[in-house]
Amino acid sequence: MTNIILDLDTGIDDTLALLYVIARRDEFNLLGVTSTFGNVETETSARNSLTILDLFGRTDVPVFIGERAPEGKTAYQVMPYIYRIHGRNGLGEVDFPSSQRKPEEGAVSFLSRMITSHPDDLTIVATGPLRNLAEVYRKYPETMKIPHKVISMGGALTVEGNVTPFAEANYYKDPKSASFVFSLPIDLIQIPLDVTERSHLHLSDTEEWKGERGMLIRKMTEFYIGFHKKDFSYLHDPSAVCAALHPEYFSYLSLPMKITDDGRSVGDYMAAIPEKKVAVDVRTECVEEELKRSWKKLLG
Ligand code: BDR
Ligand code: CA
Repeated sequence: MTNIILDLDTGIDDTLALLYVIARRDEFNLLGVTSTFGNVETETSARNSLTILDLFGRTDVPVFIGERAPEGKTAYQVMPYIYRIHGRNGLGEVDFPSSQRKPEEGAVSFLSRMITSHPDDLTIVATGPLRNLAEVYRKYPETMKIPHKVISMGGALTVEGNVTPFAEANYYKDPKSASFVFSLPIDLIQIPLDVTERSHLHLSDTEEWKGERGMLIRKMTEFYIGFHKKDFSYLHDPSAVCAALHPEYFSYLSLPMKITDDGRSVGDYMAAIPEKKVAVDVRTECVEEELKRSWKKLLG
């Protein structure tokens, strides 16, 4: 059983990542979900996570509100282009039944408490900008010494960025936090666009999702696939969670990774910072099969 916390900017692929964890209940012990800004504002992200957890009967999983703005900024506003990818509500404009629960404040202290109380037995998967984790290590530096794993979806090394020619969205939105986290001596695996764009979810896969809940998730996912202007979407955030259970589906390079002020992730062997593991290759058919089989079990 893998103890896991998801740090999400809950848009559509974050939701699919969460559904994967919900579907694999026998393998993942989901301790909580923390929220960050990115695809939506931090409060909306928390509300979206509650909506999805409650819809699938996981009212036992607490949701915490995290940092509300990138480092060095006082506020975060969703850029209008993001509405076309995740919808205004982050869930593809689909009207989900809303949760009766309220998120709790204190994502950063929750993360620090969980690292402390689960030494060598916790994986944190961050699928948005890294501000919450940056604050954990800044405010509670002792947590860096307690063994735990971080998996971060973000960056682009050998492929084009998806916001600028070089930058991927998650690190672009808060480059300072990403740069700080990558400079620390922690066990961090980076899952960049180089691998996430290789695994695909096709419209025909979503046709297997049935029932009331399956149809809502299908409608949401169709919105996301529609943005890609192909008959499939990339599997960014779900790939990162898949790596928590199946690290062997990916191949890695170990190298010091710098995040520049314009959000580029640059491997630099000369940089005087600890190495990180960066996924550079993927067994696409294994990732796709694992995710699709799990979603089908939950939604089929
Ligand atoms: C990342 O950006 C967000 O839009 C997605 O949720 C994913 O985390 C991909 O660049
Ligand atoms: Ca995300």
